[in-house]
Amino acid sequence: MSLMLMEFLSSQIFFCVLLFTTFMNPPAVVFSNPTKACDFPAIFNFGDSNSDTGGLAAAFLQPGPPHGDTYFGRPAGRFSDGRVILDFIAQNFSLPYLSAYLNSLGANYSYGASFATLASTIRLPTSVMPNGRSSPFFLELQYVQFQQFKSRSQFIREQGGLFATLMPKEEYFSRALYTVDIGQNDITVGFYDDNITMQDVHHSVPDIIKTLVENVKLLYDLGARSFWIHNTGPIGCLPDILTRFPKAERDRYGCATQYNEVAEYFNQNLKEALAQLRGKLPLAAITYVDIYSPKLDLFRNPEKYGFELPLINCCGYGGKYNYSPGGCGGKTKNEAGKEIFVGSCERPSTKVIWDGTHYTEAANKVVFDLISTGNFSDPPIPLNMSCNRNYIK
Ligand SMILES: *[C@@H]1O[C@H](CO)[C@@H](O)[C@H](O)[C@H]1NC(C)=O
Ligand SMILES: *[C@@H]1O[C@H](CO)[C@@H](O)[C@H](O)[C@H]1NC(C)=O
Ligand SMILES: *[C@@H]1O[C@H](CO)[C@@H](O)[C@H](O)[C@H]1NC(C)=O
Ligand SMILES: *[C@@H]1O[C@H](CO)[C@@H](O)[C@H](O)[C@H]1NC(C)=O
Ligand SMILES: *[C@@H]1O[C@H](CO)[C@@H](O)[C@H](O)[C@H]1NC(C)=O
Repeated sequence: MSLMLMEFLSSQIFFCVLLFTTFMNPPAVVFSNPTKACDFPAIFNFGDSNSDTGGLAAAFLQPGPPHGDTYFGRPAGRFSDGRVILDFIAQNFSLPYLSAYLNSLGANYSYGASFATLASTIRLPTSVMPNGRSSPFFLELQYVQFQQFKSRSQFIREQGGLFATLMPKEEYFSRALYTVDIGQNDITVGFYDDNITMQDVHHSVPDIIKTLVENVKLLYDLGARSFWIHNTGPIGCLPDILTRFPKAERDRYGCATQYNEVAEYFNQNLKEALAQLRGKLPLAAITYVDIYSPKLDLFRNPEKYGFELPLINCCGYGGKYNYSPGGCGGKTKNEAGKEIFVGSCERPSTKVIWDGTHYTEAANKVVFDLISTGNFSDPPIPLNMSCNRNYIK
């Protein structure tokens, strides 16, 4: 028998043993007391810029000032003036803000990690940075990084010493909260390609959702049990979309109707797919979280939350929406051809949108406060109960 074949067979036997022991000792997740508040010791996050805590900044370029001004007092790898929703989630469980997996400087992973990067997609991207649009770290690659993280972190823990204190305990992986916020870029990537119609974007949605669900299953197979999965926001209200597509039909709030409709279609598909998945993963507590509705309400009823002129961007320059593609914190040429520095608006706490695409810390906090109640979830489980598959109010 060849060595390779022997290796193959022994790995199969090992696999069977593994399967058997896993079956005999299901991970210790408490579902018996349906009203027990969850005590997540760690969070593992997958996503795009909406939950990037420094991934893209580590891999490519740190977004410069005035990013981070409101809370961190310096750029902190987030595409906001302060914290993102994920930061508020971590804080709610008294956990420190998550380090990005890609960050090799000063990271502490003992309470989790974020695999999210700006411009990440669910599906394999066709055009990646630095020349193309998308982040190379698409969802499956984030999963592969997590898989590696899971085994290597335990190897490092076994070595002891200082590095061991930076890694999560093995038991944390089944007890952790797994958060997902991705899909926006799979939709918007079609908008920037002249050869892709809005109808094509609609037609791509089922496959995008299918791919997301496959990755949730992969995480489950690695022992993940509690999932908190965001849908996608009202992209038709973003100054970036409104500036790029000035002719797109607007609703009475000034948002681009068709662009919001495709987000709603994505969300409907995601909600149904997760309801089905719940039936297939008997040990998983999967919460679908509607962030679209609270975000949309910021644009429709801004004064209710202390915001004004919600479609007007904070950090930007020019045009109807105080936004010029090229972003926040860089230099741009104004109409007279003069170079100007694009800085923050005076009071970011009164603005909804930070840089044309991303939300201000103030908006993120409002959205967090609304979604953490469970009022926007299916099933309607508050964040602090989201480890309970059969939560009863
Ligand atoms: C977590 O969020 C809930 C709901 O918003 C709130 O009642 C609670 O005080 C928060 N806990 C912490 C530690 O921030
Ligand atoms: C990493 O964070 C954990 C939890 O906050 C803490 O106990 C540990 O000391 C930290 N490690 C280092 C090296 O700072
Ligand atoms: C659109 O398709 C045409 C013809 O196939 C091609 O020449 C062009 O480069 C495409 N444009 C984009 C943006 O992909
Ligand atoms: C959920 O929404 C309802 C109706 O808007 C509201 O009355 C209730 O206070 C909300 N629940 C929480 C926990 O905020
Ligand atoms: C859980 O969250 C809900 C709603 O956000 C809050 O009313 C409740 O007090 C929290 N329960 C615990 C035990 O923290």
